Amino acid sequence: MYRTHTCGELRTGDIGKQVSLAGWVQYFRQKGAVSWIVLRDRYGYTQVVFEEGRSKPELLEALKKIGREDVLQIQGEVIERYSKNKELPTGDIEILADSMVVLNHSATPPFTIEEESDGGDDLRMKYRYLDLRRPPLRRNLELRYRVSRAAREYLDAQGFFEIETPFLIRSTPEGARDFVVPSRMNPGQFYALPQSPQTFKQLLMVSGYDRYFQVVKCFRDEDLRADRQPEFTQIDCEMAFVEQEDVLRIFEGLFKDIFKKIRGLELKEDFPRISWEEAMRHYGNDKPDIRFGMKLCNLKVEGHYEAPILSSLAFKVLEEAPSILAIRVEGGASWTRKQLDELTDWVKRPQIGMSGLLHLRHNPDGSFKSSADKFLTQEVCAELGNHCSLQAGDLLLMLAGPDARTRKAASELRLHLGNMLGLRKPDEFAPLWVVDFPLLEQTDDGHWTALHHPFTAPKPEHALFLNQPEHFGKIRANAYDIVLNGTEIGGGSIRIHERGMQEAMFAALGMSREEAQEQFGFLLGAFEYGAPPHGGIAFGFDRLCALLGGQEGIRDFIAFPKNNAGRDVMLDAPAGISPEQKKELGL
Ligand code: AMO
Repeated sequence: MYRTHTCGELRTGDIGKQVSLAGWVQYFRQKGAVSWIVLRDRYGYTQVVFEEGRSKPELLEALKKIGREDVLQIQGEVIERYSKNKELPTGDIEILADSMVVLNHSATPPFTIEEESDGGDDLRMKYRYLDLRRPPLRRNLELRYRVSRAAREYLDAQGFFEIETPFLIRSTPEGARDFVVPSRMNPGQFYALPQSPQTFKQLLMVSGYDRYFQVVKCFRDEDLRADRQPEFTQIDCEMAFVEQEDVLRIFEGLFKDIFKKIRGLELKEDFPRISWEEAMRHYGNDKPDIRFGMKLCNLKVEGHYEAPILSSLAFKVLEEAPSILAIRVEGGASWTRKQLDELTDWVKRPQIGMSGLLHLRHNPDGSFKSSADKFLTQEVCAELGNHCSLQAGDLLLMLAGPDARTRKAASELRLHLGNMLGLRKPDEFAPLWVVDFPLLEQTDDGHWTALHHPFTAPKPEHALFLNQPEHFGKIRANAYDIVLNGTEIGGGSIRIHERGMQEAMFAALGMSREEAQEQFGFLLGAFEYGAPPHGGIAFGFDRLCALLGGQEGIRDFIAFPKNNAGRDVMLDAPAGISPEQKKELGL
């Protein structure tokens, strides 16, 4: 037997016991006649002591060869520790070593394996198996496991069952590029890896499995960010005989249950629901962070003045801008020139792309001072202040420019201000549903694409518009996203379940009948055999875990992730293949 206990287990109640531990050397120290080793495993740390006079001479000799990360088996007696360590759960005891077996030596690790590491990102990725020894990563993976277990328990209790779907498939359009796999047995042909199991779960509804789920890998070849990996995991779900309300209720329940089990947090209230339109108007994006206010104040939208006073000004910047949006900063009138200059530089960065930032101070004495006093008279300022509920002592920041860019910039500025002011606290959770998404959106070249995916149903009252291109922009869908702290962590919809409507949808997306039949004949065919009404949702499991762990980046919640260039630095993948392999694959 290698061990009787783990390194996180022993307490004062165990004093006097003969025990055996196995683990890695975290730390080695010698002072005069006494030496200490701190042994680490997945469960914690335990101190082992060696002392001249009390320990065998050959043990003391063997100690000379011990280094960090060596793997040891230690046997000895649990004794009370002389100077206790309150930071450690095992800090009241130590092991007086009786024997020590070196199970394996370790080379000097390339970075420190501690709570905080001194290794750079690439180095830690290359030696991921060492980085995973660090407690923060271990805690993340443990959290991930607990979340998946909680989700499975909840869904199981609700009558869902897990069904696996294939990875080698034909392309399913979810808006990203596919990863493809050449087929040896079918030269010149390729499988695609699923961007999600979307069409399979719909087929399972046709087959009568009316509550399906799967914790499943999805593959998307898209540009990576902190919350995006080329392969990621979804908690993918589908239900038959449901309306939007049923889906939201079940999955709000799942979400609350996970929060209770993982964070001990009771989310009692119903999650707020806001329409996509409201989200865009008040927050500038469809995944609003509602931990804080500072909603956008719409002064001019797509050429229409919502604050009429502005229409009478001969101020070119505002006249020419199709959109003018403002943000009120409570108590911001005292912000310094330097602070405002820094914010101006911030909005002028290429990523934000604005030409400038106007500001207006509402001084404590009631007067106004703006960055364009020549045009923004006291009367104009008072009117603008009124429009945006400005109080004495507040600051108004204004952005003017093209519609989409200005809205995006205002959204980014709001989040930036939220960060600056410490309003985006990682231990505060503000979930919400965004509903009533448009079904279709128009690309720059005039084409229409599906905002969620082509299987999303229009709201019944808008179904007719699917055959009227002039109304495409108006069609709303029974589609919903669940958003937490400014991150989209899930999305879904009620689906189309009739062949005719699905064909109309494909046609709206510019597909010919033949193309639709070639790519989606299986689904169109299935819809002819009694497809029930159905709908579902998929959660971004990695994102959910990261947020539950108080972080935004998902990488450290995945055991073996890719870097920002989509590479596995440890395996050095992707990599070339041999000419023989290529030939065999007909490439
Ligand atoms: P969607 O494309 O919105 O929906 O994906 C669902 C959720 O998956 C997460 N997600 C990602 N997480 C990490 N890395 C990525 N590259 C990535 N892409 C998406 C997001 C997102 O909300 N089939 C539909 C679901 C449905 O309609 O039921 C789908 O896949 O958190």
